Amino acid sequence: MSVAGSPVPELAADAAACAERLREADRVLLASHIDADGITSAAVATSALARAGIDHEVVFEKQLDEASVAGIAARDYDTVLFTDFGSGQLDVIAAHEAAGDFTPVIADHHQPADAETEFHLNPLLVGLDGSSELSGAGASYVLARALEPDGGDNRDLAALAVVGAVGDMQDGDDGLTGANEGIVAEAVEAGVLETRTDLALYGRQTRPLPKLLEYSTDAGIPGVSNDEAGAISFLSGLDLQLKQGGDWRRWVDLDDEERRTLVSALMQRAVSSGVPADRVNDLIGTSYTLVGEERGTELRDVSEFSTLLNATARYERGDVGLAVCLGDRDDALAEARRLLRNHRRNLSEGLQWVKTEGVTHEDHLQWFDAGTRIRETIVGIVAGMAVGSPAVDSSKPIVAFAEKNDEELKVSARGSHRLVRQGLDLSTVMRKASRSVGGDGGGHDVAAGATIPTGERRGFLTAADELVGEQLG
Ligand code: C5P
Ligand code: C5P
Ligand code: ZN
Repeated sequence: MSVAGSPVPELAADAAACAERLREADRVLLASHIDADGITSAAVATSALARAGIDHEVVFEKQLDEASVAGIAARDYDTVLFTDFGSGQLDVIAAHEAAGDFTPVIADHHQPADAETEFHLNPLLVGLDGSSELSGAGASYVLARALEPDGGDNRDLAALAVVGAVGDMQDGDDGLTGANEGIVAEAVEAGVLETRTDLALYGRQTRPLPKLLEYSTDAGIPGVSNDEAGAISFLSGLDLQLKQGGDWRRWVDLDDEERRTLVSALMQRAVSSGVPADRVNDLIGTSYTLVGEERGTELRDVSEFSTLLNATARYERGDVGLAVCLGDRDDALAEARRLLRNHRRNLSEGLQWVKTEGVTHEDHLQWFDAGTRIRETIVGIVAGMAVGSPAVDSSKPIVAFAEKNDEELKVSARGSHRLVRQGLDLSTVMRKASRSVGGDGGGHDVAAGATIPTGERRGFLTAADELVGEQLG
């Protein structure tokens, strides 16, 4: 039985129109973005297309720009489905549509560029927040539900949509909110997801307990966070069995009572060492567990799953991440885990580099240029991690540069929800500042990016600094 209704009613009409157009196509080129949200978007969309009997091929792109859209137009497809990107380059895409190159169908959540197209599914077009309420995978899931053939049920795909949302950091202090809640509800109903109030530290499934605590950097618990020996000695002081068969136990290995013991001791330690109350409360949050995945694996926790996907996609191995999303638990998973070790090392070295080198301050923003020290595909993740560290001033957004090639610089900008409430919109800053120096960019209010010509760093910074000043002034 097909299940009536849309998980996001505001988007139901747009989703139905997009689905109808896809059904009319002989075959479809599905193009998606190279990050966790892009991979899960592609996985949701390819599953839905396959189940609807629509012939298609999947490709990944680092970023849509004139060149990559021209490449897509040169392929022999009349219909192109863009997921997790497309809206930001709508002007470029609409020009190809007008030239008769292809009909675009877009399921995205980025700030749309100034142009129109008929088959466009985006939360921002119906008054929903694209940076916190719905991800690319969420938009793709809404489309997938509209694509269900008679008797079909695509609600199992909601699990991947939740991975995409968390991969785009849409879960705040209250977990996933807004339109995402409808998707979480369908995932739970379909029996693929479990939510619970839980310890809010990264690595509940796979990290040995001492590492779980040592890496609790955001929590900033003195004598525990960033302190290997401290974390071990804290654990040793509890009435807990810490090892099993010679190995450290993990959070998933503890029973409910043991978990309560650990959480309350951790909160007590935080309070007694002067951690502010809001940060103590942040130790507890909502966890999202994929119940069909094996316990103690990266795939069972949506947050760890999304990191695994970034580890593939950001290194030009989106095919590996996609295969894992589609159920490959053999070669693709083994390769993804190898890539994950490499990704972790790069993030940790990148963050260390930023901390050592420090940032340069303009009036309204701060920046660093990693050159070739940090890969351009992960410099945004490193910038986001740096935002929580003492090396960075939390009252200003951070702008990060990395070398893309001999002619171009990649720019990544990250702000905070507090700055967004004060008026910050990095998507506009990145688009306008980059266009003023012959580049292009876009994204979300809280996180955005751009590509600019190599010699234009100063001009770009001056323009961006002024724009941020106007927004926050
Ligand atoms: O292209 P896409 O929308 O998938 O990427 C969103 C980016 O924004 C991710 O890199 C995510 O980590 C970042 N982000 C962030 N802080 C937020 C929301 C999103 O850094 N609060
Ligand atoms: O690459 P990065 O993680 O910094 O991207 C942050 C956000 O900005 C993502 O949502 C990405 O899709 C968007 N972006 C964009 N145009 C660019 C670069 C990034 O819209 N040229
Ligand atoms: Zn996204």
